[in-house]
Amino acid sequence: MRSKSNLSQGYTLRAAKSGDAQKLYEFGKVLLAETSFFLRGPSERARSVDEMRLIIDRFEELPRHLLLTAWFDDQPIGEAVVMGGELERNRYTATVGVGVLQAHTGNGLGRKLMEGLEFFAQQAGLHRLELTVMSRNERAKNLYQSMNYKTEGVRTHSLYIEGTYVDEIVMAKLLETGPK
Ligand SMILES: CC(C)(COP(=O)(O)OP(=O)(O)OC[C@H]1O[C@@H](n2cnc3c(N)ncnc32)[C@H](O)[C@@H]1OP(=O)(O)O)[C@@H](O)C(=O)NCCC(=O)NCCS
Repeated sequence: MRSKSNLSQGYTLRAAKSGDAQKLYEFGKVLLAETSFFLRGPSERARSVDEMRLIIDRFEELPRHLLLTAWFDDQPIGEAVVMGGELERNRYTATVGVGVLQAHTGNGLGRKLMEGLEFFAQQAGLHRLELTVMSRNERAKNLYQSMNYKTEGVRTHSLYIEGTYVDEIVMAKLLETGPK
């Protein structure tokens, strides 16, 4: 396993751009096939490179939205999203999410991506970051708790995965930023 100090040596974090569509499409298929901890299955992300490009463009266009990607050797190996509310009354709230390819987990990348999201959210004037995490996803829960996300409740049996009901934990973090 690479040490966390290697993070600065080979990894790059940046917003996704249209030209990344092919690589992010392939990356997404691998990421979603590796784990059952995401809401979407492998066939439920972008169905084509063109659709992936549309998703990237939408993230670029929408205010308070960011698709942050992590790269190693010119290949995407992680991503994180901020999706700010699009309505007048929820525009200071954003849903966030993160994923790292298994081969690159444990190197501090998940934390760096979440920190990157938070920095963006502050710059964008957001006030609340929220997410759901499956109750059995100890790694992600530890990450969020260590970043001061607080548990707000449990969505009992909200998912049905491989023949079993799964609970989701609702977590959120309030930022100092918000309406001026
Ligand atoms: C959850 C995930 C994003 C974490 O990414 P990562 O790069 O491995 O995380 P980091 O190396 O930055 O570790 C951050 C924290 O996560 C927790 N963590 C990481 N690996 C862990 C493990 N094996 N067991 C328990 N906690 C762990 C720790 O709190 C760690 O902080 P610490 O190193 O200071 O103790 C990554 O494992 C992943 O993508 N998993 C599959 C998809 C997923 O579950 N996404 C979240 C959906 S809600």
